[in-house]
Formats: sequence, C-alpha cells, structure tokens
Amino acid sequence: MVGSVLMQRMREESDFDGIEAVFFSTSNAGGKSPAGNELLDAFDIKSLATCDVIVSCQGGEYTQRVVGPLREGGWKGYWIDAASTLRMADDAVIILDPVNRAVIDQALSSGVKNYIGGNCTVSLMLMALGGLFREGLVEWMSTMTYQAASGAGAPKMLELMRQMERLTAAGNATGSADALIVEKAVTAEQRAENFPAAEFGAPLAGSLLAWIDKDMPGGQTKEEWKGEAETNKIIGSKTAIPIDGICVRVGALRCHSQGVCVKLTRDVPLADLEAILAGSTPWTRFVANNKADTLRDLTPAAVSGTLTVPVGRVHKLRMGPEYLGAFTVGDQLLWGAAEPLRRMVRILREWKG
Ligand code: HSE
Repeated sequence: MVGSVLMQRMREESDFDGIEAVFFSTSNAGGKSPAGNELLDAFDIKSLATCDVIVSCQGGEYTQRVVGPLREGGWKGYWIDAASTLRMADDAVIILDPVNRAVIDQALSSGVKNYIGGNCTVSLMLMALGGLFREGLVEWMSTMTYQAASGAGAPKMLELMRQMERLTAAGNATGSADALIVEKAVTAEQRAENFPAAEFGAPLAGSLLAWIDKDMPGGQTKEEWKGEAETNKIIGSKTAIPIDGICVRVGALRCHSQGVCVKLTRDVPLADLEAILAGSTPWTRFVANNKADTLRDLTPAAVSGTLTVPVGRVHKLRMGPEYLGAFTVGDQLLWGAAEPLRRMVRILREWKG
C-alpha cells in the first residue's frame, strides 16, 4: 500500500520529471513496470548498484537482504526506505523534513547515505506537535494511540472490512430495532469460531486491540518503545525526552489518532501554545477546542487521504498549568509513510553539497 500511495503522490507532484527511474520487483521481474518498461529483479545487486538513489517500500526483510551486499560491493548511493531495519543505526537518519530538515541537511553534509522514514505514529505525532519540541517545551509526554488497520498492512485492513460485513449481517439478521437484541447477535458473531480473525488474532470490528507489535522488556510493546527512541532521534535531542503510553489498534481504516498529555518545561499561556502548535508545520491545522470543529475536522473520516494533520482538543489539564492535553489525527499512509520518502528524493535532487 505504501508503494501505491508513493507512486500516486510522485505522479501528482511530477517527481519523475528529470529523473531516470527504473523499477524493480521482488516477485514480478520481467513484468511491466509502472513506466511501461521491464521490471528488473530487485535481488540483482549489480543492477541495483547502477542507481544513484534507491527508494524501497518493500519492508525490513528486503532492506536486510540487499543493503549489506550493496554497501560491501562499494555502492555509494543513497538508500531511502520506510522500514525499521536501519532506522536506529548510527549511519542512518530518520526523515521527516518539515520537522527535522536541519538534521537531514547536517547528515547530507557529513556524507550519511541512509535516509529512513519513521514509524507512522511517531511521524504523525511530530507533524502535529513539532512546534512544542522546537520551542523546548516538552519535559515529557504520554501518548495514547488509536491506530488504523492500514498500519498493520493490507491483509489486515481487508480482514477488518470482512469483519464489519459479518457483524452488519448478524445484526440485520435479527430483524430487530432493539439495540440490545442487535448487540447480542453482533457480540455472539464476534465470538463465533469461524469469525474471520486470523490476521489480527481477535475481532477488531466493534472492538479494539491494546497490543501492537512484539513485546519489549519493561512491559512496553515495540510500537510504544519507538515513541521515545525515534522521536528523540528525529529531532536530534541531546538528552532523551521521556515519551511513553499505550498503543491501541482500532477499527479506523488509514488514519492514526492519538491523545497526548504533555508535561511542559514551563507554564506558557494557552493562546501561545495554540499558536506554536498551529505553526508546527505548514500541514498542521489547529482545530479550536469546541464540539462542532472537533467533529468536523478532527476525525479519521475527515482526514483520510489528505496531507492535513489536525491538532485539537488543546487545553490545560486539571493536573496543573504545566500539563497540556491535545488530540491529533493523521493519514498513516501519507505523512506516516510515503510522503517523507518522496520529499527526500526531492531534497537529494536539490542538494548542492
Ligand atoms: N507500526 C505501525 C502500525 C505502522 O502498526 O500501525 C506504521 O509505522
């Protein structure tokens, strides 16, 4: 899915103009490429090594398999992907240029060759709240996520839709307008032996799953661990800002949402904080903390398929004037995955270093 969205965005932005693009496939070498010519074998290190820049949406295993042999063979080109394999490596930068262009430029000047898209939840959080980090206002942050099925991959997204169909059919079959009778039938269907849940391991439609990725020491999941590790690497902080929370899969299709609690480094008037958030990036949109604006602009249904990253529900929390609450939504396949990659290709083309 990331590859399809990336191709769509690169075409929309005329990113292919002026570059000689060749396409590789891990499964269909010899087939027809999106440009109409022949797809090359993505495991052919010699062909790959003829490229100045390689952009991969193939996932971590592919990165693992080809980057080592490419570099060992003397390839000096730029590697761009969205996999976690190289993200935390010392010779790699996590790319999110509206937030960390200075970090990227510095890395280009020092000859870094690996530019890796971040975890989608982390990137989307920074697209919304980057201003607070830029101003040195975050002492620590807790983020509670509501992550879409798309983040788990296309088969899981399709399973969610199959689950929705099954539940709707079970509810309709009661022929009842009594909410509790419909609910009983729907819950029984969720628990049925043959309910399609092989991908997620449990029903997601009409439910949620409070576990994403594998477990880590200390009770976190890997998705939760990435919050602090990747955020601090993206912004290039000298001392790690603590970030933690609970990551939850919900029945949204392609937008990740998150509710955050920020412990500020100092008490700042709310209006100033709102202005800082609104200026996080040119794509960040501040949503006034009222019901009408929230329901209109701060939902996965409103944001899906757009580059806008709204941040709203912004208010001081009851814990004290240094505690800020906020909620944000972002398209997981755009800023969360494809967009930083295509923009990195642009940055490389314009790089005069
Ligand atoms: N790990 C994310 C998720 C995918 O499961 O939603 C985007 O990095």
